[in-house]
Amino acid sequence: MNTTPNTTPSTFPPPEAVAKSAWVDAEGYTRMYEQSVKDPEAFWGEQGKRLDWIRPYTKVKDVSFTGDVHIRWFYDGTLNVSANCIDRHLADKADQTAIIWEGDNPAESKHITYRELHEQVCRLANVLKAKGVKKGDRVTIYLPMIPEAAYAMLACARIGAMHSIVFGGFSPDSLRDRLVDCDSHLLITADEGLRGGRKVPLKKNADVALAASPNVRTQLVVRRTGGAVDWTEGRDFWYDEEIAKVSADCPPEEMSAEDPLFILYTSGSTGKPKGVLHTTGGYLVYASMTHQYVFDYKPGEVYWCTADVGWVTGHSYIVYGPLANGATTLMFEGIPNYPSVSRFWEVVDKHNVAIFYTAPTAIRALMREGEAPVKKTSRKSLRILGSVGEPINPEAWLWYNRVVGDERCPIVDTFWQTETGGILISPLPGATTAKPGSATLPFFGVQPVVVDNDGKLLEGETEGNLCIADSWPGQMRTVFGDHVRFVQTYFSTFEGKYFTGDGCRRDADGYYWITGRVDDVINVSGHRMGTAEIESALVAHPKVAEAAVVGYPHDLKGQGIYAYVTLNAGEHPSDELRKELVTWVRKEIGPIATPDLIQWAPGLPKTRSGKIMRRILRKIAANEHEALGDTSTLADPGVVHDLVDSRMNRG
Ligand code: WTA
Repeated sequence: MNTTPNTTPSTFPPPEAVAKSAWVDAEGYTRMYEQSVKDPEAFWGEQGKRLDWIRPYTKVKDVSFTGDVHIRWFYDGTLNVSANCIDRHLADKADQTAIIWEGDNPAESKHITYRELHEQVCRLANVLKAKGVKKGDRVTIYLPMIPEAAYAMLACARIGAMHSIVFGGFSPDSLRDRLVDCDSHLLITADEGLRGGRKVPLKKNADVALAASPNVRTQLVVRRTGGAVDWTEGRDFWYDEEIAKVSADCPPEEMSAEDPLFILYTSGSTGKPKGVLHTTGGYLVYASMTHQYVFDYKPGEVYWCTADVGWVTGHSYIVYGPLANGATTLMFEGIPNYPSVSRFWEVVDKHNVAIFYTAPTAIRALMREGEAPVKKTSRKSLRILGSVGEPINPEAWLWYNRVVGDERCPIVDTFWQTETGGILISPLPGATTAKPGSATLPFFGVQPVVVDNDGKLLEGETEGNLCIADSWPGQMRTVFGDHVRFVQTYFSTFEGKYFTGDGCRRDADGYYWITGRVDDVINVSGHRMGTAEIESALVAHPKVAEAAVVGYPHDLKGQGIYAYVTLNAGEHPSDELRKELVTWVRKEIGPIATPDLIQWAPGLPKTRSGKIMRRILRKIAANEHEALGDTSTLADPGVVHDLVDSRMNRG
């Protein structure tokens, strides 16, 4: 038994210095939250004014979570997102840095002012127009973390085209699926990306994808590394050459609040990734407001979110939220451990970062390297720390607080999703007493409810499925091209409520503790993946008969990918085949879907109706052999023993 007294506090009130100057204090949170849920129309009607509208809205909210489900906010207003993120700051911030770009190589960085941002975005917008892109069209972006990624997003927004960003870690096949699904005619990519000193062959991947996407007529290529690339005349154009040919003036398109802004593909429990669609007005109001309050952003501060723009965090909290607020946002091309494990903190010192927002997986990886690489840096500019993407284990939270934040920086553990557009549950730095591991309390206007598996509302201290009872402006509006799937995925499990897919616990103080996905989505290093996608990649291999994929606890990644594979008759398990399957999945989906463990399974546990019992596979993968539960409903209980035996023999 551990007899050492536990002296670590379990609650962390806002440091006085932060609370005194914060946008919102404890009393303010309670008051504003009450108003936001009692009278959402009045609350959001007021908040919507944080944007510049071309035609001001008179209608605030029109929402139904039942029937065919519709969600509209500020819906008779018109505006332009790029004008809100750029033009309106030119009067007083033209020479302020909008984007600090820090290259993979520490010797490379640059500052882009709001004036420069304006010029770059206008030029690219004119190039897009010249290439035939019109309002409502889709443009796909497959870029590394370079300023052109932000220019491309804002240029689309400027002319009313929707962007669809595909993370650079996705394979050509995944890129092609996304190009085809939203019928993009134009792709923006780069010759190569650069991460941790290694080159990523983006143009090469894109060329493979384009060979199977006949509707893409134009490819704009940013020169990043200068590496050799193949070229298709008439289709491929150098970005720098094209922007030099056009005017630096491009008036913003007047968009309705409910016109689409972007599509972002994300994984669900079934089928192919779905195109989450966000619209213009509500999304930007919500991204801007959450960025200001959750990070307590103050004018002049340098703010850094380490996500990639290929994920929603990069959309809302590198580009749209911060730029709508006239902030200085840092964009980092590299990785946390290159050239050394002090890199994050060196960048903090180099650029005087005040607010730092990262993922638990990065914190855990750096924690493993000990305190010295952190402590040799100053970090005195830091004021607020944030976490996103997966539950943060209390040990990592405490380390982040003590070692990185020197116990003076509040941590905001922000829970949200691609679908939610912005942060749903999080502390506010000057208002909320934190508890390590808890995302704490809902943001303004967000009404979390906990239900049991039958949809019964659970009150008070409880545990169950996390739903949201009413809409907030940043919520997704539909699945691109498939509204039925939207309704089925999010509003039919628990009738009339938005279902997050996450489980949670609510404690006696009303704090929320997210316990992880309750569906077949796994979260690997903060990246969301559908087990069904990985399974269908595996069974596409000629030697594989059947596959079942589950998540299992992984020290660094949060969850690892565990694949059970049944081979075709006549095929034999071998280490070579294991390697071949890993390579295969990387090719089919991308390196982020690399299986961590493959276990050969002569048979999979199935119910008599043929459904794979994943609950059992999860337990075996987690080495919880004692807790397999009832296996009597299985068609052949013997397969479980075989699987357990071979799991144990692997050690
Ligand atoms: C998980 C990322 C616990 C959750 C913004 C959710 C979290 C999924 C947290 C969405 C958090 C995100 N604590 N779990 N603070 N933040 N998650 O769409 O399971 O990539 O459903 O959006 O990540 O992942 P997505």
